[in-house]
Amino acid sequence: MPIKHFLRFNDLTRDELDYVFARTRWIKNEFKAYRRYWPLADRTLVMIFEKASTRTRLSFEAGMQQLGGSAIYLNTRDSQLGRGEPVEDAAQVISRMSDVVMIRTFEQEIIERFARHSRVPVINGLTNEYHPCQILADIYTYIEQRGSIQGKTVAWIGDSNNVCNTWLQAAEVFDFNVHVSTPPGYEVEPERAGLYGTDHYEEFADPMRAARGADLVTTDVWTSMGFEAENEERKRDFADWQVDTDMMAVAKPDALFMHCLPAHRGEEVAAEVIDGPHSVVWEEAENRLHVQKALLEYLLLGRIE
Ligand code: CP
Ligand code: NVA
Repeated sequence: MPIKHFLRFNDLTRDELDYVFARTRWIKNEFKAYRRYWPLADRTLVMIFEKASTRTRLSFEAGMQQLGGSAIYLNTRDSQLGRGEPVEDAAQVISRMSDVVMIRTFEQEIIERFARHSRVPVINGLTNEYHPCQILADIYTYIEQRGSIQGKTVAWIGDSNNVCNTWLQAAEVFDFNVHVSTPPGYEVEPERAGLYGTDHYEEFADPMRAARGADLVTTDVWTSMGFEAENEERKRDFADWQVDTDMMAVAKPDALFMHCLPAHRGEEVAAEVIDGPHSVVWEEAENRLHVQKALLEYLLLGRIE
């Protein structure tokens, strides 16, 4: 089978994503029942981190071990990557010693260059532009909690960042709508978001209007990794874009709240919301493990049933 990478959400077709979700359900079930499942025995995942992580590292490392394989952690600080080794050379070498690579880095261009020179599948563990593994977990969580996401409305409140861009890509694949509300100057850039059209999202100046009638309300930090110099300015610009109980009250009564985490209570989300009855953030975080195990299985073994 030709090498398949997961660099953008739409690198997998709807059919492939449905398959990955079906495998996620089975793999999660086996894991919960303490049944051993080792399809990736003797396979090695290399994880390259150029930015900090808790969930992504843990879910990939634990996931690979639970599938019978092993995972190796590299970071920019103590590998040659941080000392200017060309990404193309690193890709050649790393992919000759491993079976699959996960990368968290800055520009999407870096991971795309790596993938072009890799002999093995490459997975995007977050770039400045996209976070496809996160949205895989988020949509799986939505389906698990509420059923099909097709035709539903997701309200994205806050920064049009990597997680927002990936929601917008996913909306095209799964045919749902995204209501986006960002402060002026932080609007979606369709080309950077990797969008083909504008049919699946609408922009709202007023975050309350974006949240009205939504099936899911979601947000993320005001300042993403790599943009720390803008932190103080962003705190001022985003002050009216907090998801609070008033905002959740205008969404559907059974609306879910999601956040990829880490969260800042009192900034992008009120404590009453993230710790309240609409929130499924812990289920969402846990599902990173299960969907990524299914993704690893699919990229390495293809369809097995
Ligand atoms: N949501 C997410 O990717 O978390 P980490 O930054 O902890 O990996
Ligand atoms: N948008 C955030 C997501 C962190 C998981 C960031 O890029 O820092």
